[in-house]
Amino acid sequence: WRLQAPLIASINELKKQKNAVILAHNYMTPEIFHGVGDFVGDSLGLAREAAKCDAKIIVQAGVHFMAETSKVLCPDKTVLIPDLMAGCSLASSITGADVRLIKQRYPGLPVVTYVNTTADVKAETDICCTSANAVQVVEHIAREWGVDRVILIPDEFLARNVARQTEVGIIAWKGRCEVHERFDRNDIIELRAAYPGAEILAHPECPTEVLEEADFAGSTAAMNDYVIQRKPRQVVLITECSMADNVACDAPETEFVRPCNLCPHMKRISLENIHDALLYDRFVVEIDPAVAERARLAVQRMIDMPP
Ligand code: 13P
Ligand code: SF4
Repeated sequence: WRLQAPLIASINELKKQKNAVILAHNYMTPEIFHGVGDFVGDSLGLAREAAKCDAKIIVQAGVHFMAETSKVLCPDKTVLIPDLMAGCSLASSITGADVRLIKQRYPGLPVVTYVNTTADVKAETDICCTSANAVQVVEHIAREWGVDRVILIPDEFLARNVARQTEVGIIAWKGRCEVHERFDRNDIIELRAAYPGAEILAHPECPTEVLEEADFAGSTAAMNDYVIQRKPRQVVLITECSMADNVACDAPETEFVRPCNLCPHMKRISLENIHDALLYDRFVVEIDPAVAERARLAVQRMIDMPP
């Protein structure tokens, strides 16, 4: 990717001229992640950076729901997404109208929504969560509302995986991440047989049977920290393909076994379209201010949650 140096230099120059920052998710390709990202991380980390950054323009090197989260937190900034088609199977699995129906069916229960959702859905929500803090958020809101069940939408597998770790009852939805749902128990069993010394880390959007066989489950940032801090000799990251490429650059002692699935939405973002986003100020993310304000409460409540 060093061949891309002129384009990277041009993007970094445009950022300075325009007072822009690039928030890059862990699933961006290495030339984006290491070459032009000002802040890199998981969904929670990027939301926190958006909330506190003082640039005029945010370019979201990630998918549309992430750009919406940045806009919700920074209504006065210009938020750009380099490709409007960078969606997410979880975000498109549920609408605001669906959430209103769920609330009618379960009156009195709080709605916890994964950040992988549209602003419309977040606006119907009591508090957001990410894969990094879902258990903590569920327990916090159940305590605050004095209830023993919560609604956790839309990721069915994340909900099941949270349910394994808490006494709080979970009412789930049928959304799935099209990348992580494709891993199954046999993948892990075969990897164990082929690489007996490898440590296997899996994302909580994977099916429960996968997490039961893995050594560790955590958000993309948690997987990154695990490898950087523990320096395993050999590791398998059960997640999107760019994750291992990015961590490998910072973990020279670790050997990465690389079974992975590509996220076609994340892969829509390229150095070329990031460059054009900055040059032509496109594509601007707009949210109805009334919807954005209600969604902001749910995201901000998550960010402000006591540790
Ligand atoms: P993290 O929040 O763990 O980064 O993962 C969310 C995800 O799948 C982004 O698409
Ligand atoms: Fe959505 Fe899954 Fe792609 Fe993340 S990896 S953007 S959850 S489809």
